[in-house]
Amino acid sequence: MLNFKTEIADCLKRAAAECFPGCDISDCDIVSMMEYPPDGTMGDVAFPCFKLSRVFRKSPAVIADTLARYDFGPDVKEVASVSGYLNFKMSDSYLTERVLRSVLSGGDRYGSNDIGKGKTAVFDYSSPNVAKPFHIGHLGTTVIGHSLRLLHEFSGYKCVGINHLGDWGTQFGKLIVAYKRWGVRDEIENGGVDALVALYVKFHAEAEKDLSLNDEARAAFKKLEEKDAESTELWRWFVDISLREYKTTYDMLGIEFDSYSGESFYVDKLAPLIQKMRDDGLLKLDDGASIIDLEKYGMPPFLILKRDGSTLYPTRDIAAAVYRKETYDFDKCVYVTSAGQSLHFAQLFKVLELMGYDWTDKLVHVPYGTVSIDGAKLATRTGNVVLLRDLFRMAIDKVRVIMDEKNPDLENRDETAEAVGVGAIVFHYLYNGRIKDINFNMDSALSFEGNTGPYAQYTYARTCSVLSKAGGSICKNESVTVTCEDERELLKTLSLFPEKVVGALNDYEPSVITRYIIDVCSAFNRFYHNCQIITAESDGVRKSRLALTLAAKTVIGNALRLICLRTPEKI
Ligand code: ARG
Repeated sequence: MLNFKTEIADCLKRAAAECFPGCDISDCDIVSMMEYPPDGTMGDVAFPCFKLSRVFRKSPAVIADTLARYDFGPDVKEVASVSGYLNFKMSDSYLTERVLRSVLSGGDRYGSNDIGKGKTAVFDYSSPNVAKPFHIGHLGTTVIGHSLRLLHEFSGYKCVGINHLGDWGTQFGKLIVAYKRWGVRDEIENGGVDALVALYVKFHAEAEKDLSLNDEARAAFKKLEEKDAESTELWRWFVDISLREYKTTYDMLGIEFDSYSGESFYVDKLAPLIQKMRDDGLLKLDDGASIIDLEKYGMPPFLILKRDGSTLYPTRDIAAAVYRKETYDFDKCVYVTSAGQSLHFAQLFKVLELMGYDWTDKLVHVPYGTVSIDGAKLATRTGNVVLLRDLFRMAIDKVRVIMDEKNPDLENRDETAEAVGVGAIVFHYLYNGRIKDINFNMDSALSFEGNTGPYAQYTYARTCSVLSKAGGSICKNESVTVTCEDERELLKTLSLFPEKVVGALNDYEPSVITRYIIDVCSAFNRFYHNCQIITAESDGVRKSRLALTLAAKTVIGNALRLICLRTPEKI
């Protein structure tokens, strides 16, 4: 993988061995000691020499002065010793011969790596609860989850995306009772999840007046557990209605899952596992319920069986993890949920370890913060929720108004408005570190200026329009020259992409990519405004700048796709 930092680190090791013989730095992780100076005029990469003072027994200034005299080869244009720092500048030939060439020859693979070659990663994400609204609280798990999956694919992993639907539990007893009492088939069929939610709400209102309804619901769920044909058919129908609706949202995001095996899938796989826990002496009775005591590990007990012997969300997660290990033999299994479930996953991983499984170090929980819209927290219980679908619709409608003004002759209006509207929401969301609580502001998300999705997609479309205006194909082997600082900055920014991908991968942090996209777009737009591309002063410069434009297009496109955004060529 092309990386200026690692190249400099290798040179530094050689330089150190020559300049300070006898001092061994082979154990030092030089790459991670290096920094990007905040101000590009100081250098492209810096090495703070105080980090080696102890090994060399010299002051940072002496180390920097000594190493600066070493010949770092043709990739380095300049090395300067400044107050104990060594500042390196990439040479023009490094930028044109190595960076530009690897972007152009890499194409839609530029930035990828093979860290995950031969490995399998399972992603459990989105996973809404059936017959409940798919609301903006699910945005995080859905887009962080999918982006992480894409980042892993880009890094060579074989990926399996699983939608662990919440499709089992006592709520289905309630729904069955409510449907039989008050439901009308066509109304439910046409009303979708909203109609199911209304049934559920009605059940709760009525059950307050008539307590016997709760017993009836328990009995109905028991029948479902016993595979009663009519109950099973109703349950399947509720699941299908919900899934159909969720899928329209997934389509807008371009998300597909390899499996929709939800909680119900594991119900008949639980018995042997519960037996094993019992045999191993892990289960304890607590007021009639079966639990696993985790006090020793500073956690509350994990609930395995309710008093009436029925299983729970935690029990089904145990079966799911074991099943996935057996089925996919994963090298990692990543769960993306709100931070509210961090304890659940800590308990789950511990319980699996106590059960004797030796792969629990491959389980990863990726939590994220809460979302509010314009300062309003989203209440789920009052029915006052913002559906993801409606949020997307709202964004699409607003984008269409802006587009009608900006580009009234655009073809593919609907498709483009959807790509930009949905993209705006996703970009705005993924711009922040995932663990932060986010307040959503529609107007700033949809703005075509600032650090937004529309700005990024618009910049991408601009690269496409420059290239199509230039006509003809760009020769990828053209010799390219750097004529100004804006070109240099753009190339330098493009060179960072592979490293950003690895950073986002290691930290499970799509925002690394989102923020980087803004860096590339700003660098491209500065170049675009300050340099003549099509009308450049000479044919050579024009070709160079077109090649640079193609490289920017490639990187912006690859990066946008990694965070679930589409890349329309015209906006
Ligand atoms: N259905 C759950 C919820 O909406 C999320 C499931 C996450 N995955 C899991 N294996 N527990 O809260």
